[in-house]
Amino acid sequence: MAACDEGEIVIKFSHVTNTDRHPKGIAASLLQERVNEEMDGTACMEVFPNSTLYNDDQVLEAMLNGDVQMAAPSLSKFEQFTKQFRIFDLPFMFKNIDAVDAFQNSETGQEMKESMTRRGLLGLAFWHNGMKQMSANTPLIEPSDAEGLKFRVQNSDVLKAQMAALGGSPQPMAFSEVYGALQTGVVDGQENTWSNIYGQKFFEVQDGITETNHGVIDYMVVTGIDWWESLDEDVRSQLATIIEEVTETRNAESFKVNQEARQAIIDAGGEVRELTPEQRQAWVDAMRPVWDEFKDDVGQENIDAAQAIND
Ligand code: LMR
Repeated sequence: MAACDEGEIVIKFSHVTNTDRHPKGIAASLLQERVNEEMDGTACMEVFPNSTLYNDDQVLEAMLNGDVQMAAPSLSKFEQFTKQFRIFDLPFMFKNIDAVDAFQNSETGQEMKESMTRRGLLGLAFWHNGMKQMSANTPLIEPSDAEGLKFRVQNSDVLKAQMAALGGSPQPMAFSEVYGALQTGVVDGQENTWSNIYGQKFFEVQDGITETNHGVIDYMVVTGIDWWESLDEDVRSQLATIIEEVTETRNAESFKVNQEARQAIIDAGGEVRELTPEQRQAWVDAMRPVWDEFKDDVGQENIDAAQAIND
């Protein structure tokens, strides 16, 4: 961690994942490196990964209290601040990370960064992780295989509804607790990206990972609007430029980072199960009805826009 010099603006960046072989971990480290090099004497960034400072339930509150200046929680974690982001949790809404990228870069997506300013939070950038896969302590091939199982979910009503649609029982839980919960059987399964399944070693305590690509985990780099506006214009603009460049560089690599994590899981003896198109369609049919429950929150026009990008 960089030691900050006296007089420098201290920017604490808190996140919950590992730092290597992880799209967010790598991006946050690069941001730290660039800020500390290019803004030396003016600003200093300290990144706290692996939930060492806060978990995602605490970090936004801490930000509003001024205890931390930046974070990049997954979009699912903003539910208490805005319902708009629910579109990102709807299963099978985006066909791949490129479609997510295109949606985020549309006018609607860009406006979402400012959807929480009234609550004191400002989005600075979207960072990619990737598509989610399903795992459990029993093979998941057909959606009915998930019936009666307890699945850890992020604390999001959409994700709870998604697991309920499968006949599963959703258990909201902080990311840092998932490995232990899987290991001790508090939950049977979970959903996450390859990089998180690898980084947290979930594959070691699961029967296998089914390649469903059914949803997305992406992030918003967020800051407290009061803090951001307290910065001198030139400082803010230099920081914004660095964030923009890091975003562009690392988002372009996120798919590759996840594919490498997928391979690393296989190399470490983890079981990866691919689905036939028919098998995957059965998961689509089981989960898609969840859209109806949330279409008023996210707006039919936004769903239509996301679907048009997929085509
Ligand atoms: C999770 O809670 O599963 C993820 O949001 C963790 C993360 O930041 O990727």
